[in-house]
Amino acid sequence: MSNSPLQAVRGMNDILPDEAGLWLWFEDTVRDWLESYGYRNIRMPLVEPTALFKRAIGEVTDIVEKEMYSFEDSLNGDHLTLRPEGTASCVRAVLQHNLLYNAPQRLWYAGQMFRHERPQKGRYRQFHQIGVESLGFVGPDIDAEQIVMCARLWRKLGIRDVALQLNTLGDVASRQRHRDKLITYFEQYKDVLDADATRRLYSNPLRILDTKNPAMQELVAGAPKLMDELDAEAIAHFEAVQALLKRHDIAYEINPRLVRGLDYYNRTVFEWVTTRLGAQGTICAGGRYDGLVAQIGGKPAPACGFAMGVERLLALMQEDGMQNPPMPLDVYLVHQGEQASAFATLVAEALRDADLRVLLHCGGGSFKSQMKKADSSGAVCAVIIGDDEAAANEVTLKPLRGGEQGKVALAVLAQKIKALTE
Ligand code: HAM
Repeated sequence: MSNSPLQAVRGMNDILPDEAGLWLWFEDTVRDWLESYGYRNIRMPLVEPTALFKRAIGEVTDIVEKEMYSFEDSLNGDHLTLRPEGTASCVRAVLQHNLLYNAPQRLWYAGQMFRHERPQKGRYRQFHQIGVESLGFVGPDIDAEQIVMCARLWRKLGIRDVALQLNTLGDVASRQRHRDKLITYFEQYKDVLDADATRRLYSNPLRILDTKNPAMQELVAGAPKLMDELDAEAIAHFEAVQALLKRHDIAYEINPRLVRGLDYYNRTVFEWVTTRLGAQGTICAGGRYDGLVAQIGGKPAPACGFAMGVERLLALMQEDGMQNPPMPLDVYLVHQGEQASAFATLVAEALRDADLRVLLHCGGGSFKSQMKKADSSGAVCAVIIGDDEAAANEVTLKPLRGGEQGKVALAVLAQKIKALTE
């Protein structure tokens, strides 16, 4: 058996401490932002029945056909899948626990998603999303709220150069008309269709519009437009969303080719895109999915949501020079001698009782070498304890960012340190 060190699975990344500080800052900011709009947190399992994603995302989609980590539970034969996205699980949980009984819901979740894609910059096999779902709201105001809230988040995070693309997918009847026209259109060019398109021609022709194949672009550009099939209600809904966005000075571009890669959408769909991340430029995407609740077995209820890719957002922020914030540390506790070391552990706990952040030196060493570590720790001060200090129930306090060192009685130590941190 090989003895070489094991590596993480390709496309599944470790987030090391030098980067995790930025993640924590991002997560705190996002949480404040979500609370400012009244969204409540929900947490779903990472693993769901495979049938859930097939039914929600659609059997003839890239995600379900090619990208899911699906497996059979070796103990009971259940067909399970690592979640490739959160909307299906969120709707399943809402229905299972009857959360829509009497009240609409504004919900959010955060966490890992899994898709077996070809890894490259901005595209991973394990990635993180922050997802936002509103269930039970029928009007265009919730679509607009979600887009406006994204714009606010970009401002909070200092994210520049993202553009909003918008489209409407209409409702079931108009989609059916459009679907029929697409089939008739593509049937004329059977010899130009690639393998994916040929396979999808009758099962899901809308997906052909989503193709990345350069050889198909011209054909796709000339395909019948859904816009031409929309009924009056869907048009009115879309116009109302746009009117609200204009009131909020949110610039957008209507992209009739924006169809999204999951089948559950109808009416408003949107993507926030940047040109600064190469090919993986969509940092956030979503839209309305009024049919999904019924499709998963619930009483019909309108819904709308979006998810952002955390890795992509952080990559944008890092490009703009955003760095891992330093570890917030108030005290580095230096100690030497048997009495002193036992006393130091008590002092450290007492300081933490006073809400200070304390790193207790471990592993011995001379005062000099410990002080070197204290200097480079980023702490506001060092608290130094030798056996003499321990015997006198006092410590030496040394400010590390300027100021005189001196002896301090334990009773007033926390207060003195707090004065330094202000
Ligand atoms: P999605 O467009 O598949 O939508 O994913 C949303 C976002 O997740 C993308 O815009 C991107 O930023 C990020 N993302 C997707 N795949 C990867 C990947 N392989 N590596 C890194 N980031 C990735 C959904 O998942 C829907 N559930 C969104 C939604 C919520 N619609 C309604 N509610």
